[in-house]
Formats: sequence, C-alpha cells, structure tokens
Amino acid sequence: MKKKLLIALITITVVTVTALTSLFILGRKTNVNTNKNIQGLNEELSEIMYLGSLAPSSHNIQCWQIELYPEEGKLTVSADPERKLDVVDPHAREQFLSLGCYIRTLEEAFLAYGYNVTYSYDESSDTMNFNYKKISDKTDSNTIARIKKRHTDKRSFDINDSSKNEYVSKLCKVTGSEYYSFDTKEFAIIKKATSDAYIKQAYDSETAKELSEWLRLSDKETKDKKDGLSAEQLGITGIKKVFYYLFTNHETAKGKTFADQGIANTENQLSGCMGFIIVSSGDSKKELVECGIKTTDIWLDLTENNISVHPMSYAIEESEYKATLKAQLAGSDTNNEDVSKQEPQMLLRVGCVKNYGENNAIRRDLQDYIKVH
Ligand SMILES: Cc1cc2nc3c(=O)[nH]c(=O)nc-3n(C[C@H](O)[C@H](O)[C@H](O)COP(=O)(O)O)c2cc1C
Repeated sequence: MKKKLLIALITITVVTVTALTSLFILGRKTNVNTNKNIQGLNEELSEIMYLGSLAPSSHNIQCWQIELYPEEGKLTVSADPERKLDVVDPHAREQFLSLGCYIRTLEEAFLAYGYNVTYSYDESSDTMNFNYKKISDKTDSNTIARIKKRHTDKRSFDINDSSKNEYVSKLCKVTGSEYYSFDTKEFAIIKKATSDAYIKQAYDSETAKELSEWLRLSDKETKDKKDGLSAEQLGITGIKKVFYYLFTNHETAKGKTFADQGIANTENQLSGCMGFIIVSSGDSKKELVECGIKTTDIWLDLTENNISVHPMSYAIEESEYKATLKAQLAGSDTNNEDVSKQEPQMLLRVGCVKNYGENNAIRRDLQDYIKVH
C-alpha cells in the first residue's frame, strides 16, 4: 500500500515538474535572429543599419526601403508600398510617421559610431536623402544602449508613481509638444476618446481582419516573418503567452472574445497611466516624417529617463474622434491659424514602471529591404 502511494506521489511530481518546465520553456521570450549580413556592407555599417531598424513602426510593419551607396556615403529612405495598413491608415499617415521614426533612430545609430550625418527630404519623390561621413573612431555605448532599450510598453504603468510628471511636462514644453497629466480635464477627454475609438475598431470586421494579419501567433510564425505583433509585442509573457498561443488563431483573432479581451486590456492601460503626450504637425508627407523624427527624439529622451511609452493611435485613426480631440483640446487657440493647421499625429501614453525592459528586437533581415549599390 505504502509502495503504491509512493509511486503515485513520484508520478504526480514528475508530471507536474515536466508540465511546469514545458510551460516555462514555451513561455520564454522569442529570440529572432535578424540576419545582418549583406553583401557590400562592412560589419560596422551592417550594425548601424540594424540599430536603425529597432525604430518603432505601427503594427511593427517596418515599412522602410533603402538604397545604399557606401562608396559615396549616402543612402535614400522611402516607404515600401507593400507595407501599409490600408484599413486604419488609408492615407499613409502612420506609414510616413514610422519612416520619420526610422530616420531619427538611424541618425542616432550613425552618431553613436562617430559619423557626421545630414539629411533632407525630397518632396518630389517622397524620399529622404541621407549623407554620412566617419569623423571619429570613438563609439558611444550609451547611445547604442538607449536605442536597444527603447520599446513600446503595453503594460499598465505604476499609478502611484508620478515622480516624473514635472520632467515630462518640461520636456514637452521644450520640444513643442503637449502634455496632459492624469489630474487634468484634458486627460479625461483623451482617455474617453481613445477608449471609444478602440471599442469601435475592435468590433469593426475590416480593422480586426487587418490586425489579425499582422498578429504573430506562435514562436515559429514570429521567427519566420520577423515583423508584426508577437505575444511579447502585446505585453503577453510567461504562462499567459503559452495560453494565448494555444487558444488564439488568425480566425479567432477576428472574433468577439478577442475583441472583448482587447477592450479590457485597453481599459487597464488607460487606467494605469501618468499622462498623455500629443505630438502634432501638418498632414503633408514631409511634415509627417518630421513629426516621426520629433516623436522619436522625445521617446529616446523618455527612455533614458526610464519613462515608459505606449503610442495609442485609435482616436487619431478615427476621424470623428480625432475631430473631438482637436476641438476639445485646442480651447482658446482655435482662432489661431497656425494651431488649427496642426493635427494631432502621435498620442503617447506615458508612465513609470519598476523594471523598464528592452526592445523585443523582432526585426527583418537587412537584405529584405536594403539594396547596396
Ligand atoms: C506611427 C505609430 C503608431 C503606433 N500606434 C500604436 C497603437 O495604436 N497601439 C499600440 O499598441 N502601439 C502602437 N505603436 C507601437 C508599435 O506597435 C511598435 O512600435 C512596434 O510594434 C514595434 O515595437 P517597439 O516600439 O517595441 O520597437 C505605434 C507606433 C508608431 C510608430
């Protein structure tokens, strides 16, 4: 009898340990091996181009394409027409904001490796012409670390920690962007518009279908595609990731249960937040690229100061909510022609967290989008 009990106990222990180990292994962070090798580029330039690709882009579409001329120290950056979110981004607004994010991150990577950089936007071809020249052999490891650390944080932030409120407020004044902290009436307006717009999108079949196409629903799919939104990109880690991958596929991701879960997550995110930053600009492609550059400047500064960032574009993507935001936030400035031409382009949820984390680095192989001449 005692022997049977012992065998049963050992069996239960072995099964439990095996199950927990499997869950642990399956729940680990996916490591994507981006191939940085590209013919015609030396190791340093390859590394710089890789660091540039750690830039944010909506749905992680990585919509940039590059023509590189190493002999002449120049490259051009333009938008890949195949990598665009036709439903939520019909006018390529976010595509060009993302290009701006890429250009600013790439600039930072060149500077870190001792290069001088200049760039100018050609409106006739919607291309950024970018020149670089090595001026120093010193490498700035802090700048490299900052690029690798910057990421989108979709967790709920610490609502008891508003110690960086003043800092963000000052940074926004200096950079010409707006900051609305949790204790302002504008914060409530942004929160409601974002929540309402998210709910509208979550139940819209076309929006859900587009999102589903960019979701990566297994480690294999993430490693194969090297773009889009994996569990980690959505802030789902550990055991939750195992169950998320087990019970979600590209069909169920278009359904009501998935939409309801997304709405609940968004409510949590909006409640766990120190404030919102709005970065505005005109609507031309050049202005959007400049706005992406400015946003990345702000984001990298916040990263250095351990302030988490989460872009929430839903209210800006939906014209009725964008109009509400513009009307209700402009206040007395509506008569000012300069201000009324400025559209809200990036809405960033910001706050503090205990462990800052780092970029998941789900990025495409360089040869997929860089042509060396
Ligand atoms: C123009 C733009 C719009 C974005 N909009 C959203 C958004 O509405 N919701 C969201 O969760 N993330 C948004 N993001 C963040 C991207 O999903 C994120 O940058 C991308 O997945 C890459 O991840 P990383 O920022 O951690 O490198 C946006 C990013 C950019 C550049």
